[in-house]
Amino acid sequence: MSAAPAPLTVRDPRAAAFWDERFTRGFMPWDRGGVPHDLRDFAAASAPLVTLIPGCGAAWELAALCELGWDATAIDFSAAAVAHAQAHLGPWRDRVLLADFFTYAPATPLQLIYERAFLCALPPAMWPQVAARYAQLLPAGALLAGFFFFDSNPKGPPFGISQAQLDDLLLPHFDCLVDAAVSDSIAVFKGKERWQVWRRRTEVHGQ
Ligand SMILES: C[S@@+](CC[C@H](N)C(=O)[O-])C[C@H]1O[C@@H](n2cnc3c(N)ncnc32)[C@H](O)[C@@H]1O
Repeated sequence: MSAAPAPLTVRDPRAAAFWDERFTRGFMPWDRGGVPHDLRDFAAASAPLVTLIPGCGAAWELAALCELGWDATAIDFSAAAVAHAQAHLGPWRDRVLLADFFTYAPATPLQLIYERAFLCALPPAMWPQVAARYAQLLPAGALLAGFFFFDSNPKGPPFGISQAQLDDLLLPHFDCLVDAAVSDSIAVFKGKERWQVWRRRTEVHGQ
């Protein structure tokens, strides 16, 4: 009889060590192992965009965007996540950087932030910081596109959000252009995630 795996020890998803432990142990229930259809369709219909993938994990989407000629960069503050991504990214491995989303400064002004399982990886108390950083990193007209996890579960990650909460976070800075059901979710997100595209608004003076 094989022994049960040792329990995970790090409990705080705000710490890189939390994610390091999960990548090192191969416990990644959020990992899609590929590129979601909605992102593929979005990218196929768009001109190349200077793109940031924050909290990229395995960064499956990075290669797909780079292969289309996009200037895409993926960042993660977990060294184990970065090593995991770099191991399968071949020619695009140098586009994965060890960096914290809250301090990372892009070399080129961004045109897109791609969101998947990053906002929901962080406790709700941190969401205003995440939204503020999205707004800070994206100039007027730039896009925030990706998958948002809607649920009312008290425990996470993933921490579910309501549309009203997401609106409170994003509407001060963004307009929602697209809100669509997702047809190819993996089990943890099935029926609870939506593909959304938000456009950064020009700041109104005094806001
Ligand atoms: C649930 S995983 C999602 C990974 C990937 N986006 C995906 O869809 O598979 C969340 C990721 O966010 C990363 N992360 C959390 N906080 C971060 C921060 N402040 N800066 C950069 N990465 C962060 C974690 O290390 C982890 O790899």
